[in-house]
Amino acid sequence: MEQNVGSRVPTIVDVDLGNRSYPIYIGSGLLDQPHLLQRHVHGKRVLVVTNTTVAPLYLDKVVSALTDGNSSVSVESVILPDGEKYKNMETLMKVFDKAIESRFDRRATFVALGGGVIGDMCGFAAAAFLRGVNFIQIPTTVMAQVDSSVGGKTGINHALGKNLIGAFYQPQCVLVDTDTLNTLPDRELASGIAEVVKYGLIRDAEFFEWQEKNMNALLARDPNALAYAIKRSCENKAEVVSLDEKESGLRATLNLGHTFGHAIEAGFGYGRWFHGEAVAAGTVMAVDMSHRLGWIDESIVKRVYNILQAANLPIAPPELMTVEMFKSYMAVDKKVADGLLRLILLKGPLGNCVFTGDYDRKALDETLHAFCKS
Ligand code: NAD
Ligand code: GLY
Repeated sequence: MEQNVGSRVPTIVDVDLGNRSYPIYIGSGLLDQPHLLQRHVHGKRVLVVTNTTVAPLYLDKVVSALTDGNSSVSVESVILPDGEKYKNMETLMKVFDKAIESRFDRRATFVALGGGVIGDMCGFAAAAFLRGVNFIQIPTTVMAQVDSSVGGKTGINHALGKNLIGAFYQPQCVLVDTDTLNTLPDRELASGIAEVVKYGLIRDAEFFEWQEKNMNALLARDPNALAYAIKRSCENKAEVVSLDEKESGLRATLNLGHTFGHAIEAGFGYGRWFHGEAVAAGTVMAVDMSHRLGWIDESIVKRVYNILQAANLPIAPPELMTVEMFKSYMAVDKKVADGLLRLILLKGPLGNCVFTGDYDRKALDETLHAFCKS
């Protein structure tokens, strides 16, 4: 395990996308190092997009990091309501209202300060405002630090389905100050761990084994354990995104459990369960289906249950979810092609998966019936 903690020298993971490549800076105390952010600000005006929970905690610090030693930059902010239920067009419009009223121009930089909801919305606003302005991610949840801030997927929800409106739009940099996790509630921390587990299951068996041994340390916020989990997750994500930025195949594997999970989020009501909680239950369902298809051993199923339970994550959908609800939300999933629902399923030894529409529909039906009352 790397010992970056306390060194204040950031670990850097590069997202290699040709002339749109960018660094992910990971470490403690990075918001106290203004040069890291300032080198990625273009133009003189910055709009920080954040929410009512994160602003009182970190907005002043971020404004200082953007302006210390650089009086030519002016920073304004827009503070959005907090929660997945606000990840919609109406809230997004508040960002455009602020940017237009304040006469931001094409040299503006938008900075996302918060979890995945803020990152996705700010990124989409940056992609669309004046057809695209500079964009920086400062993720402050485990979910955002290990996944959502990296790779340029941005967007909002629709009442009929999750993340259905958006754009691929890469940031100039991602700055992960691990100190921000000190204020993150336990439930939000656990939610992010669902995506860490995902990387192990789909492509990194060694990382999964490390997680099995270190779950208690992660939950206890051991700084070294968190720093390693963030770095290893970002390395996995950066590699996948570099190979398949626009999700023609490989990148879809990052959505293990998400088709079931997104149905839970939309069906149960946005924000009732956190994204990672829905993904955890969805992962159990995808793993159950993989086993029914005969594609993985029982031992993998057990290990998935065990690790998610150890992380205090759900291992079944909420009781309210019915087979019909799953089917209806899954039908509008972004991975449907020509009416065929493609899923990410585990196949073979731990750390291997497939993205496929070629599976026995009976297995999907059996899984849905096994996890739903009707
Ligand atoms: P979130 O953004 O709602 O944050 C969770 C909660 O933590 C919120 O109440 C937030 O205000 C609060 N918070 C954030 N940072 C904090 C801090 N440091 N201290 C205290 N409280 C803090 O949820 P999330 O789990 O970060 O992100 C979920 C969203 O990310 C979903 O909308 C999901 O679709 C999206 N996502 C996107 C991608 C992608 O590739 N773009 C990947 C994964 C998830
Ligand atoms: N979180 C899935 C992706 O970025 O593709």
